[in-house]
Amino acid sequence: MSIGTQTAQRTVTVAVRGLTKRFGARIALDRISFELYAAEVVAIIGPNGAGKTTLLSILAGVLNPSEGEVIRTPDRRFGWVPQEPALYSKLSVAENLRLFARLERVADPDQAVAAMLAQIGLEDRAGEEVARLSGGNQQRVNIAIGLLCEPPALLLDEPSASLDPRQRERLWEFIGGLAGRGTTIIFSTHNVAEAERYAGRTLVLGDGELLFTGTPADLERAVSGGDTTLDADTPRLAGDFESAFVRFLHDRGH
Ligand SMILES: Nc1ncnc2c1ncn2[C@@H]1O[C@H](COP(=O)(O)OP(=O)(O)OP(=O)(O)O)[C@@H](O)[C@H]1O
Ligand SMILES: [Mg+2]
Repeated sequence: MSIGTQTAQRTVTVAVRGLTKRFGARIALDRISFELYAAEVVAIIGPNGAGKTTLLSILAGVLNPSEGEVIRTPDRRFGWVPQEPALYSKLSVAENLRLFARLERVADPDQAVAAMLAQIGLEDRAGEEVARLSGGNQQRVNIAIGLLCEPPALLLDEPSASLDPRQRERLWEFIGGLAGRGTTIIFSTHNVAEAERYAGRTLVLGDGELLFTGTPADLERAVSGGDTTLDADTPRLAGDFESAFVRFLHDRGH
């Protein structure tokens, strides 16, 4: 498959083939293969130690796989939003953005900083020390840094973990807007309800294996074994997806 080509009107952003990562004797990722498409939002879910951060780090290019490959357009790096904000707390919002724009060798750093401030809605806080921002606003600066090079895909590791419900809502609104403009979004989360609500597709990892790829509804169907009581007319209870997910993992020995 070649990257950037359209299959059934969907443009492939990245293809992962047989990705394996070993840390000594431990296998963190075991022959993972999948594709990501433009404008889609994908959630990676799975228990602690499943390999979510390892997979995102390899896609981001900050970690090398032991085997397998990540096929993407050459020279188009992905935006990376690690779980811990990598910000200089004593510098202002604008100074942080300018510093990272220079490190990324962005052609016009001032223009990029202005565009990012507008995009994250923090123009009025541009001169403020990052240390004085709320966790949600720091997360927005963190995301802006991931977006400085106008990447075709944005990778986020547990982006909402430290946010309150209102900040979380704003984060997903912002991310939905990016996807609407064509950016591929892939994020990890332990908040299964959030994966169901905001992701079009989920990848389920367990002990380094890709156990499932599909929509949250597909996963529920897989668990019910085609049980017709889960059809459209049946009212769904909140937490259905979470119970389906736990059952799915249990059935597969995780
Ligand atoms: N630098 C490392 N050295 C050795 N082992 C590592 C390293 N990084 C990750 N691992 C191991 O690889 C496995 C996958 O870890 P990873 O951090 O990717 O899991 P995760 O799904 O992100 O977990 P969590 O939900 O706790 O964030 C774990 O067994 C972990 O201990
Ligand atoms: Mg992790």
